[in-house]
Amino acid sequence: MCGIVGYLGATNASDVLLTGLKRLEYRGYDSAGLATIHDGQLHVRRAVGPVDQLQESLTKSPVRGEIGIGHTRWATHGQPSEQNAHPHMDASGRIALVHNGVIENHSSIRNFLADEGIQFHSQTDTECLVQLIGFFYGRSGDLRESLELALQEVRGTFGIALVCSDHPETLFSARRGSPLLVGITAEGYVIASDPHAVVAHTSDVTYLEDDEVAVLSPAGLEATTIHSVAVEKRIEVLDLSLADVGLSGHANYMEKEIREQPESLREMMRGRLDVTNGRIVLGGLTEIERDLAHFQRVLLFGCGTAWHAALIGGYLFETLAGIPTTVQYASELRYRNPLIEENTLAVAMSQSGETADTLAALREVKLKGATCLGIVNTVGSSIALETDAGVYLHVGPEIGVASTKAFTAQVAVLTMMACDLGRRRRLSPEQTANVVHELATMPEKIAEALETEKQIQSLVADLSQHDNWLYLGRGVNFPVALEGALKLKEISYIHAEGLPAAEMKHGPIALIDKGMPVVVIAVQDHTYEKVLSNIEEVRSRKGRVIAIATQGDTQIGEVADEVIFVPPTIPALSPLVTTIPLQWLAYHTALHRGCNVDKPRNLAKSVTVE
Ligand code: AGP
Ligand code: GLU
Repeated sequence: MCGIVGYLGATNASDVLLTGLKRLEYRGYDSAGLATIHDGQLHVRRAVGPVDQLQESLTKSPVRGEIGIGHTRWATHGQPSEQNAHPHMDASGRIALVHNGVIENHSSIRNFLADEGIQFHSQTDTECLVQLIGFFYGRSGDLRESLELALQEVRGTFGIALVCSDHPETLFSARRGSPLLVGITAEGYVIASDPHAVVAHTSDVTYLEDDEVAVLSPAGLEATTIHSVAVEKRIEVLDLSLADVGLSGHANYMEKEIREQPESLREMMRGRLDVTNGRIVLGGLTEIERDLAHFQRVLLFGCGTAWHAALIGGYLFETLAGIPTTVQYASELRYRNPLIEENTLAVAMSQSGETADTLAALREVKLKGATCLGIVNTVGSSIALETDAGVYLHVGPEIGVASTKAFTAQVAVLTMMACDLGRRRRLSPEQTANVVHELATMPEKIAEALETEKQIQSLVADLSQHDNWLYLGRGVNFPVALEGALKLKEISYIHAEGLPAAEMKHGPIALIDKGMPVVVIAVQDHTYEKVLSNIEEVRSRKGRVIAIATQGDTQIGEVADEVIFVPPTIPALSPLVTTIPLQWLAYHTALHRGCNVDKPRNLAKSVTVE
């Protein structure tokens, strides 16, 4: 969730750290801070709010030094305040630490250290860790050993970077459960919780694994486990460019990522759609190729938007592949003590590949014997590494907190998998070829659906005055209703509920009053007639119906107040086009209400705590 950056080199550390923090800000933005070492002294600056506030405080009171660490926070323990912002210091004032994750046994450590007379200055779990390192260091005078000892003591997750004024040329880092990579530059090192902060400096990187420590100094990179066992690190080349992480002239990342969808989908499908032979080729599944025809059950799980994509996958696996499929919230899966039958294919869905709830669910089902696949965007992320095989989304970094292009790519990957499994079971070659052909036309259809933007802009001034909205859909478009509602909630702070259209009459209909926006997905599939009846029910209660309908539908205009048309496609693929206007609707409503769409309040891009 939060962003960590560390620097050791030949230029002003605070400039490198600030630029790095700006690139990581999507991971957390309630407060930020940095520490450098200059003339044998630690210099710390911290500020509440986004990284700009920290920058302002550094303009007023700059810090020097060519080594340092920085942090942008998403609070878990202790409210956002300057006191709770990282870096945190040990009692001697010599050690500064930034931390991503949660120290679960923080209160017992705090009690132990308090009994030793150590005073705490924040409410964070992080301070317990730095104070513990400082406590051991005070006794042994060996910082590396103290760091390892402390890391052996703590439970929970951490990605950390640490500097100490006694070691003005050494940067310490370690991880368990929170990502951390080391970039190797001509003059030194840049470490960060994700490649976005590193790519401007180098593309030579190495990723730390769980319970590894990296000590970086002019003498080189020395990696060990937290039990002092030496580790050989492999240098990899980053597959990311600065352009991938920039705005490229767009107003914000969400807009950029919505507009990128035709291209990102084309990229994702490149080499995977064999239109000539009407087949799907998913290279990531070759390792389990032989088992694909034999799975008896599929279990899909994820959180938030990834869970919505999984719900769509559930419909597709059953209708196209004929495999009984269950879909679970990753965060709830463990509490059900899931019964994993033999021949179960479990699929973890995650854009970031780091969501703690999804990772925990993955470990649980793996333990119970399922074959595990990952549908993940971030290459080399924890979920990607811990699954038996998988399919990458390959849509480039998604930085806007509200997921857009990752969602359409997840749905498309699930469609491809369902179609591929279906071909091995029940779909005729003609049926398979039909889905493949339709998938190939999706980038153009999505581009057309993006053109609904102007119409939507003209609606939002009026709609955005309402504080409660409903989204309705049936079948494969019910999860699209959930996703539309989630997007609106996340970035415009309007309360919205997504429902199966038929469920409305079982209770929520009581909410409908004059002018309440009710967004209904009413494409011309086998549910169309019934959805029209639901629209009538809304209208009878004076709700305002905004219908997402199929181009050429002449009937819908008679019942809906507004109609937004999307291109026709086969029912299984309709979520890919119906989603687009709902993304615009949330986006423009949020802008109209003056909200920051890339950094919605209280949220962070990836949630690495349970
Ligand atoms: C999406 O708009 C949300 N920000 C959120 O629900 C997200 O989809 C969820 O936290 C899962 O993230 P992941 O895909 O990185 O695992
Ligand atoms: N648990 C730490 C805190 O609340 C770190 C949170 C983060 O990962 O940003 O300060």
